Amino acid sequence: MKTDLVEISGQKEEAGKEKEVHDIEALNKRGNLESNREDGRATLILTLTLCNVRKTELSKAAKVFEMFQTQICHFETRRARKPKNSADDLDIFVECEIHSADVSLLLTSLRRVAEDVNASRQEKVPWFPKKIQDLDKCHHLITKYDANLDHGHPGYADLEYKKRREFFADLAFNYRSGDPLPGIEYTEQETATWREVYRKLSSLYPTHACSQYLDAFQQLEKYCGYQEDNIPQLQDVSRFLKERTGFQLRPAAGLLSPRDFLASLAFRVFQSTQYIRHFSSPMYSPEPDCCHELLGHVPMLADKQFAQFSQDIGLASLGSSEAEIEKLATLYWFTVEFGLCKQNGSIKAYGAGLLSSYGELMYALSNKPEYKPFDPEVTAVHPYQDQAFQPVYFIAENLEDAKAKLQNYMMKIKKPFSLHYDPYTSSIEVMNTPQKVKRVLRQTQEELKNFCLTLENLS
Ligand SMILES: [Fe+2]
Repeated sequence: MKTDLVEISGQKEEAGKEKEVHDIEALNKRGNLESNREDGRATLILTLTLCNVRKTELSKAAKVFEMFQTQICHFETRRARKPKNSADDLDIFVECEIHSADVSLLLTSLRRVAEDVNASRQEKVPWFPKKIQDLDKCHHLITKYDANLDHGHPGYADLEYKKRREFFADLAFNYRSGDPLPGIEYTEQETATWREVYRKLSSLYPTHACSQYLDAFQQLEKYCGYQEDNIPQLQDVSRFLKERTGFQLRPAAGLLSPRDFLASLAFRVFQSTQYIRHFSSPMYSPEPDCCHELLGHVPMLADKQFAQFSQDIGLASLGSSEAEIEKLATLYWFTVEFGLCKQNGSIKAYGAGLLSSYGELMYALSNKPEYKPFDPEVTAVHPYQDQAFQPVYFIAENLEDAKAKLQNYMMKIKKPFSLHYDPYTSSIEVMNTPQKVKRVLRQTQEELKNFCLTLENLS
């Protein structure tokens, strides 16, 4: 794809003289987005303007197309009709194929490097995975805080760390559903970082973490190698979770797009990073790392109520609009990441962002921040903070109550179908005909009948 772009951009130096360039606006009228294909890919017609293209703008745009594994079918440029900055501005027309789930993110990314990005029609229902193997088709790209790109990342100037991160990224990109989870031989330096984080955080848990977390943490110490001198292996932790709540882990290369990340939860799959934060900054990581996943998320995923809560958010995300995804991601943020709950007359933490951050865990339970009761309608649209402590924390009555409130909220999300998760096949059935609903209803009635009989026998 990159090569195509380089060749085409070379040709375009001659564009005005040698080639009749189509009128971008006219081309835009011939239909912009074909979707709903069996392979989940969409054909996208894009127009955009690149400013100062002699500098780095073209390579930045090419990088965006490359990131989303876009297949370029047609690419044309011409001098910009209405230059914004200089005579070097280019109007660009692109016909390309991209995974349907990535369309919106591609547009957002292009708008960061180009002007007047247009694709005038969006899909009605975005593609979503229907079986667990379909998670391989999600793009699994890192959306921000990449050690290779982000100047503010603590490991940005450390070539050895970047190389190590590439190793972990390759493991995640090459992983396919059903593969054994990669085992890692962590270095002494990595284990030393883990030790420092583990020691500090585990000293706070007895007073700050909720009881569900403490129960699971004890079990993880007993069965999964949770110790200060050992970074637990994902395969051991995944086996542990599978036995308790059916959740399993899948390696991730970094922070994923909300749509991809939430989709995996629908299948009780948790996308987990495997690398550790940079040693220079053991108490802070701008992105998720194994300390965050193993100490923050895993213990809570071993709780049945919490596992259902997480899966429910995932199910709600499938086929939802971008606006709904944004709200669900915000709900996830204020609950699964930064949630507090009442327990035996005091407030405890159940959010992974808190339970993996010494400073914020102390702050969140210090009575200094603002607290609000968990109400999905309010929580879903509340501004959040991913660069500093949260401005507000939402307190749930308990996890069961939070789950019930979330389910009510989900019922109001408008979609032309509802979804049924089949745990036997780890697949999603789209309930868009009365026959399908009746078949699932019959199965449920049979199960209910069996439970009633069991109750009768027991009494
Ligand atoms: Fe997280």
